Amino acid sequence: MELQKAISERRSHRRYTDKKVFPIDMKEILEAGILAPSPKNRQPWYFHLCGPIRKRLIVDVLQDKIAEMQAESTTVGSLPISLRAIEECSDLVLVYNQYSRREQGYNQNRWKADILSIGACVQNMLLAAHSKNIQSLWICDILFADKEIGDLMETADELVAGVAFGIGTQQDLPQRPRMELHKKLQKSG
Ligand SMILES: Cc1cc2nc3c(=O)[nH]c(=O)nc-3n(C[C@H](O)[C@H](O)[C@H](O)COP(=O)(O)O)c2cc1C
Repeated sequence: MELQKAISERRSHRRYTDKKVFPIDMKEILEAGILAPSPKNRQPWYFHLCGPIRKRLIVDVLQDKIAEMQAESTTVGSLPISLRAIEECSDLVLVYNQYSRREQGYNQNRWKADILSIGACVQNMLLAAHSKNIQSLWICDILFADKEIGDLMETADELVAGVAFGIGTQQDLPQRPRMELHKKLQKSG
């Protein structure tokens, strides 16, 4: 698929059929992720591709989190919608920052650069999935339960995002509007 077409046609999908993504496609999607640029080629990401049991446990953790937040009258925002996407999707990938909680002298500039690189890595995966007609959702709502998921995954590493992959129920979602470029662009002579 032509790159510009993939960029403009990709959408965030929140409903999935029960069809599974082939493991070879998931491997190629993750391989697209690791081609992202990073400062000094640090490659600050690593992934956990959740199997069905682990995915179920994460869903349980998020359900508990929603109940806890509701009991405290804290707004849950889009968390229930993200939770349903996780439940329905074929594959859930957790994306971690490999360095932020391990490296000596780690500072805000390194963190910024690593997080930007991880963002590029995730976007590569979304576009690679789209080019295979696999739909996806980049999910930060799971960070509401980052501590609990850390306990479940037995890691203290920084969880940056979850990404759901699957076969969307609706292939031609309309584009969510973007502000016009001239409102986002400054130019100088
Ligand atoms: C860093 C990041 C985190 C996101 N987290 C969530 C999320 O937790 N739940 C959700 O439903 N969508 C999430 N999204 C998807 C955005 O809502 C979506 O990208 C935006 O509305 C634009 O729609 P589009 O992706 O279809 O173009 C996230 C997107 C990004 C880039």
